Amino acid sequence: MAVTAQTKLNAEKLRADFPIFDQEIRGKQLAYLDSAVSSHKPRQVLDKLRTFYETQYANVHRGVYTLSEVATAEYEGAREKVARLVNAPEPRELIFTHGATESINLVAYAWGLDNLGPGDVVLVTELEHHSNFVPWQYIAKRTGAAFKAIPLDDNSELQLDSLDELARTGNIKVVANNLVSNALGTINPVERLTAWAHEQGAIMVVDAAQAAPHHEIDVQQLGCDFLAFSSHKMCGPTSVGALWGRAELLESMAPFNLGGHMIRSVKLEETTWGQLPYKFEAGTQPIAEAVGFGAAVDYVTDVGIAAIEEHERELLVYALERLAAVPGFVGYGPPPDRRAGIISFNIEGIHPHDVAQVLDMEGVAIRAGHHCCQPLMSKLGVAATNRASFYLYTIREEIDRLVEGLHKTHKLFGP
Ligand SMILES: Cc1ncc(COP(=O)(O)O)c(C=O)c1O
Repeated sequence: MAVTAQTKLNAEKLRADFPIFDQEIRGKQLAYLDSAVSSHKPRQVLDKLRTFYETQYANVHRGVYTLSEVATAEYEGAREKVARLVNAPEPRELIFTHGATESINLVAYAWGLDNLGPGDVVLVTELEHHSNFVPWQYIAKRTGAAFKAIPLDDNSELQLDSLDELARTGNIKVVANNLVSNALGTINPVERLTAWAHEQGAIMVVDAAQAAPHHEIDVQQLGCDFLAFSSHKMCGPTSVGALWGRAELLESMAPFNLGGHMIRSVKLEETTWGQLPYKFEAGTQPIAEAVGFGAAVDYVTDVGIAAIEEHERELLVYALERLAAVPGFVGYGPPPDRRAGIISFNIEGIHPHDVAQVLDMEGVAIRAGHHCCQPLMSKLGVAATNRASFYLYTIREEIDRLVEGLHKTHKLFGP
């Protein structure tokens, strides 16, 4: 995730691409600080969806007629773009799914059910989103494998010195970790974990839902075995995402969903599976959404992923400095140099939902809740936090309005 020389991003200018900002919310301009949950969509992506449906749409890989061939070329072109985004060695290793959650379930079921058993250990972390926690916990239970988590230190970073002890508890077969934590923004040492996982003979599954939209990803450099992410967090449509996996692993795995399009031949006695990636793309895929995902990849790469990362880091430093002056502010997470543009916090004595509601009256949208990270909340000793998160269209003025809104909240509810 190195930041290379780049043109600085102009967020004010980019905002003009996003029609959502043209409207007022509660009589105020929208300050949208919840991009970690989902990002907004630029005209370029919306226009592509409209053009595709109006002039290029048909089902893919089915028809011999021209329109189906055009739609198929668009769909496969999108696969190439998404594969290039993470430097996949081959586009056939890139499976379109309905999102990061389905991508992880695919690996947990299709790899886990056939490769895990008693004596094995599935290792996640205390920082995982439920999407990279619950499927593994469930499959571990079904197969008799143990399920364990790498603990966090006081900075909310992984305690890598616990790994040797964890290795003594059984055969580590899966290590599953997010590259960036959605709850705290922690950037995790995935390359190091991957090397360790491979020493144990385990596969490394990386949840890149929060990383792919904001950081350059190179699966070959990371060395991992699977990587999951979603389109909707990176300016693309909902209901589509990707799983990248090593070809040899994907080829050795049983299918996940079964039905049309994923087969080679079907007979009463036996069915055989199609080639990659189609073996894992049963039924009619989210075709237009995948094409929109490709357009979103074009958009963020034109802006420059390194520029997005740098922009968010500047916002993070600015926001942390301003927030520290808010009475009762309690922040969670590591220092800015090891953290993405995500700030989780509480205001002492005020419930996060109250904070978020007062901010909403000011037109400021943040998230309040457990962020699908209940094990992490338990570790932090809280039921919920507030979370502000940034993207390429976030401007300082939105952070100023967050800070003003928090001062107001403190006046209203504070001790
Ligand atoms: C770290 C992380 N992993 C997985 C997911 C699940 O993504 P999706 O809901 O798009 O499947 C999210 C969504 O917030 C996330 O933040």
